Amino acid sequence: MSDRRASADEAWQTEVPRYWCADDAFETRFLEAMSLIAPEVERFVIGAVHDSLSRAAAEASAVVCAAFIREEGEHSRLHHGFNRRLAAQGVDARAALAPVRRAADFARRWLPRGGRLAAAAACEHLSALLSLSYLRAGRRSAIRSDRTARLFQRHARDELNHRAVVFDLLRNTGGGGWAARTSALAAVSVVGVICVLRVVDVLVRHDAPDRRLATWWRGARRLLAPGRWISPPALLGGWLMYLRPGFHPAQFPGA
Ligand SMILES: [Fe+2]
Ligand SMILES: [Fe+2]
Repeated sequence: MSDRRASADEAWQTEVPRYWCADDAFETRFLEAMSLIAPEVERFVIGAVHDSLSRAAAEASAVVCAAFIREEGEHSRLHHGFNRRLAAQGVDARAALAPVRRAADFARRWLPRGGRLAAAAACEHLSALLSLSYLRAGRRSAIRSDRTARLFQRHARDELNHRAVVFDLLRNTGGGGWAARTSALAAVSVVGVICVLRVVDVLVRHDAPDRRLATWWRGARRLLAPGRWISPPALLGGWLMYLRPGFHPAQFPGA
């Protein structure tokens, strides 16, 4: 391990309290689940973009896509550093992420290049939705680690800023018809919800194997409480926007 990586890991271990969000185990674990999943999604999205760049029609997007790939790679690097905290706590991240990896492997194996890119564009729309929710959440002020708050804030801003890159590449390469992109969003959303629930559940069981249901019940109510983390009407509104025939991510609000 390099000295730089070792000192970054040590900073994450020593500077960040175990339950760094409002001293609350569930809220902390929910955000940590997002951090665990992020590099897996980024690997899939980077691969789909990379595979499509070889097409002549993608030339117009080449420079912006190269910057996009670098930015997503940097997100993954930073989140891997943060996520190693969880390994040090005894969390089996590999087991938690097994369904996410299975879903990504399935898509890589069975979807054609255009289908993978439509799925990647859907992932980016969901990332933008979650990023906007995060940046608007009043509960961000309860994060008790500046280092962690900076990591999540930077990632959310970047996701909103580059929200159109994959969508534009999809259109430039002849994909992005209404049926293809909306069915991709539906499929990615179902798989995404299952994967998030699974990863949060692994973390909850790690903390409180005997109080799993009670932890879920109380925690989910806190996540959904007004002004906390998730606003179902806002998420649904942003999700439905993608179904409009003339939708473009520029119509989605920025940071
Ligand atoms: Fe990212
Ligand atoms: Fe992204």
